[in-house]
Amino acid sequence: MPKDIPLNERIIFALDVSTSEEAKQWVETLETHTKFFKVGLQLFLVGGFEIIEWILKRDLKVFMDLKFFDVPETVKLAVRTLTDKGVSFATVHGNDAILRAAVEAAQGVQILAVTVLTSLDEADIRALGFKCSVQDLVLSRARRAVEIGCSGVISSGLEAPMIRKELGNNFLVVVPGIRPAKNIDDQKRTVDAREAFENGADYIVVGRPIRDAADPVAVIKDMQAQIQSVLPRS
Ligand code: C5P
Repeated sequence: MPKDIPLNERIIFALDVSTSEEAKQWVETLETHTKFFKVGLQLFLVGGFEIIEWILKRDLKVFMDLKFFDVPETVKLAVRTLTDKGVSFATVHGNDAILRAAVEAAQGVQILAVTVLTSLDEADIRALGFKCSVQDLVLSRARRAVEIGCSGVISSGLEAPMIRKELGNNFLVVVPGIRPAKNIDDQKRTVDAREAFENGADYIVVGRPIRDAADPVAVIKDMQAQIQSVLPRS
């Protein structure tokens, strides 16, 4: 069943910049076209909750992507600090106990579980000591996240169809690693915007393809047209 998500919230722009001033400029440039912004480690370390509040005051949404990974008690206390902060999504990874601690502590924020970073390929996960394929690891982590009650998962667009087929549509799939064509930077498991939604994404997270474009607004409009071709009622 299609989810009721407005087209102008489907693209989450990754504010991967080094100052709050730069972040504010990006928000002001893009906010009439996209209403969802991701604050990650880099920006949070310089801007803290102040930049998040500034974004939220403009009636926009915030995805706080700090990828919490620690002992369950610490993750629980970290997630609890997000209560009443107005953040829509926060990311966590780890085993069942860590995810459960995050879900139990969450009030008003939706917990998304990281499956396998889109910058990792088979050789990388082998080097980390995993003997299974990326696909198997993504699916097993997504299954546990859904069972534990996470609101959704972060996965590459390549694994999204398998996640939907095996686990259904009753949770969010958020897809980073969006690239227009064959990719040369650090993202290895990439798809384009159209493929991501064809494959079952609810949201895409996009940074460099918008940030580095000569005309960032044109890239957003083009991606939104692609999304609408897949989800006409969006
Ligand atoms: O610049 P780019 O489009 O690659 O940005 C992708 C964003 O998505 C980054 O902010 C990165 O932290 C985030 N991300 C990711 N892979 C994940 C989860 C988040 O690339 N699995």
